[in-house]
Amino acid sequence: RMSARGLQEPPCLPSLPVIGSLLSLRSPHPPHVLFKELQKKYGQTYSLMMGSHCVIIVNQHAHAKEVLLKKGKIFAGRPRTVTTDVLTRDGKDIAFGDYSPTWRFHRKIVHGALCMFGEGSVSIEKIVCAEAQSLCSVLSEAAAAGLALDLSPELTRAVTNVICSLCFNSSYCRGDPEFETMLHYSQGIVDTVAKDSLVDIFPWLQIFPNADLCLLKECVSIRDKLLQKEYDKHKADYSDHVQRDLLDALLRAKRSAENNNTAEISAETVGLSDDHVLMTVGDIFGAGVETTTTVLKWAIMYLIHNPQMQRRIQEELDSKVGMDRTPQLSDRGSLPYLEATIREVLRIRPVAPLLIPHVALSDTSIGDFTVKKGTRVIINLWSLHHDENEWKNPEHFDPGRFLNSEGTGLIIPSSSYLPFGAGVRVCLGEALAKMELFLLLSWILQCFTLSVPTGDSLPSLEGKFGVVLQPVKYKVNAVPRPGWERKSEARQWTTYH
Ligand code: HEM
Repeated sequence: RMSARGLQEPPCLPSLPVIGSLLSLRSPHPPHVLFKELQKKYGQTYSLMMGSHCVIIVNQHAHAKEVLLKKGKIFAGRPRTVTTDVLTRDGKDIAFGDYSPTWRFHRKIVHGALCMFGEGSVSIEKIVCAEAQSLCSVLSEAAAAGLALDLSPELTRAVTNVICSLCFNSSYCRGDPEFETMLHYSQGIVDTVAKDSLVDIFPWLQIFPNADLCLLKECVSIRDKLLQKEYDKHKADYSDHVQRDLLDALLRAKRSAENNNTAEISAETVGLSDDHVLMTVGDIFGAGVETTTTVLKWAIMYLIHNPQMQRRIQEELDSKVGMDRTPQLSDRGSLPYLEATIREVLRIRPVAPLLIPHVALSDTSIGDFTVKKGTRVIINLWSLHHDENEWKNPEHFDPGRFLNSEGTGLIIPSSSYLPFGAGVRVCLGEALAKMELFLLLSWILQCFTLSVPTGDSLPSLEGKFGVVLQPVKYKVNAVPRPGWERKSEARQWTTYH
């Protein structure tokens, strides 16, 4: 159907009342793979019905950039769903909050607070290095005992502690019961939120006892108690003069808004309630832990599959950092192969393969297709990162794609690459995540070689799709590199402790 301006509606999957296109979406594949497949029949940009909602699926980078960058503000809305409303007290956070003056104000405060610890700043580097150190000493204990380790809980603790230090100025020791509680509820949330929740397709189902929704509510209530406890502590010893962490920064912004009634500020800060502050911090945990941990697990998995790449990173570390000191952020520029490897991991296994759904806030268009206000838009990053026209042999893991022909400098070989999204809704933790990936991996690889335990087969490179695309569980042997047998223990006593 053509409109006056030559625009037309995107091709639509068959749909039935109430269930929408559900019948066409039955597939053994996870949604991002299915959505990529469906391009063959419907073209790169098409629509489908989820219950009564129209959803547009974008599988190519020109349209993706139109949505995220050129028309970023028009597509800055987020859908409201039953599960995310439970998680965020009806969208009082950043990731699921709808675009509004309050939302913009929140994003600005959190962004500011993150920059305070941001790139180049000493404190964030210290925080991450302290965790890298603790991780290496766990590896070296396991190596000494001849044990293979599931790195997942260790990596989760390291990444959680970075976020805890940032938000609350606190961290967890190994085996801390509160940390175990946190792991348990996080898993509960990850398992339920995105589990193709029928509740989101049939909103009326929520009035029936629904096991998933109950589990989610239980996990959210445990999370909220932990957050509230920290919030109360921070309120009790808050001072305008010291800003210890993100929670202090949020408290300060809230107070200054309350005490200052000039038109400009009070208009901007409508509704910066306690709920908003709590949910914003909850968001940073929700968005910052699972994602970064998952990328680390994928990176290690690919390095185990490709020992020659591991060796090349180690040679780079040996020649640029040497053995007398630990890697630091300022080494990033001189370790291009490690950086290229991180980029390739983010390409081949994007943790958020469908980003977070966007919503059109007014009638608009994508390319030649009309888009009505309220339409949901899903950017299929999986299609962008595996587009055969943009990437040679896209299923093949090859860090070399991100290096210039001499292998000395980094490049982005295709514009079909958006691991952190782009525009108004770009990932708020991009800089932080990149620092964590670089430091944790360089510290580990400087002194250990990772492999599967003898007799085990290599873990599968296929992922499991939940909120994020997760690798299967696997164990690794961390063998100290020649010359590092003693050093990895001695490092415990350097400045970071
Ligand atoms: C949103 C990727 C780590 C905080 C996003 C989005 C992606 C993404 C793809 C969605 C963009 C969109 O909807 O268009 C990643 C990856 C990470 C990572 C690959 C790790 C390697 C972090 C960390 C933080 C964080 C460490 C914590 C500070 C957020 C927030 C949003 C977000 C708050 C929502 C932004 C908004 O809706 O305005 N991230 N992220 N992320 N991320 Fe990250």
